[in-house]
Amino acid sequence: MELFAVVVIAFWAMLPAYIPNNAAVLAGGGRPIDGGRTMGDSRLLGDGKTWRGTLVGWAAGALVALALNALQPEVSSLLSVDVPTFPLAIVLAFPLGAMLGDIGASFLKRRSGRERGAPFPGIDQLDFVVGSLLLALAVDLALSLSWFFETFTLPVLAVVFVLTPILHVSTNAIAYALGLKDEPW
Ligand code: CTP
Ligand code: MG
Repeated sequence: MELFAVVVIAFWAMLPAYIPNNAAVLAGGGRPIDGGRTMGDSRLLGDGKTWRGTLVGWAAGALVALALNALQPEVSSLLSVDVPTFPLAIVLAFPLGAMLGDIGASFLKRRSGRERGAPFPGIDQLDFVVGSLLLALAVDLALSLSWFFETFTLPVLAVVFVLTPILHVSTNAIAYALGLKDEPW
């Protein structure tokens, strides 16, 4: 497959996992998931992981996946690239996995003494990718969808792991510049 097609498929397939964290930034606030509980000297997750941010992020990613499904025929013929559609179980699991990956990263940040908002290079850029891919893979295997490996071929996965940190760093820098985010990471 040519590089153009691989990049298009990687970006298309990951969009429902890219949107949740950004939607959470816009929607965040309210009750923290950990309810203020601590583990050792630090918060379990911290005030940066809220119920509202998580649910809005999840819903936003699922809606994007449904929108992409609706656009799939037109985009495929327009670009001459067969972009994937998302089975309903994946529509739900993929963005949820992204949010859970981000929550897992905050858990690890707090255990390693990092305050809310402190950078955790590498983890910050890839937590939601690993979370979304793992949950999608688990659901795919459990339901025998054979969607995961059809969509995420090795070249597509390679592009995902290169493209995502670049997109993540740039969108966060833009969100920071616009005053939507407290830190540029
Ligand atoms: N957010 C949220 N719920 C989530 C994820 C994010 O409400 N599950 C919102 C919070 O307002 C958070 C902002 O989005 O402050 C930015 O997200 P993120 O960078 O992941 O959180 P941080 O505040 O940096 O906290 P942490 O150090 O735990 O990552
Ligand atoms: Mg952060």
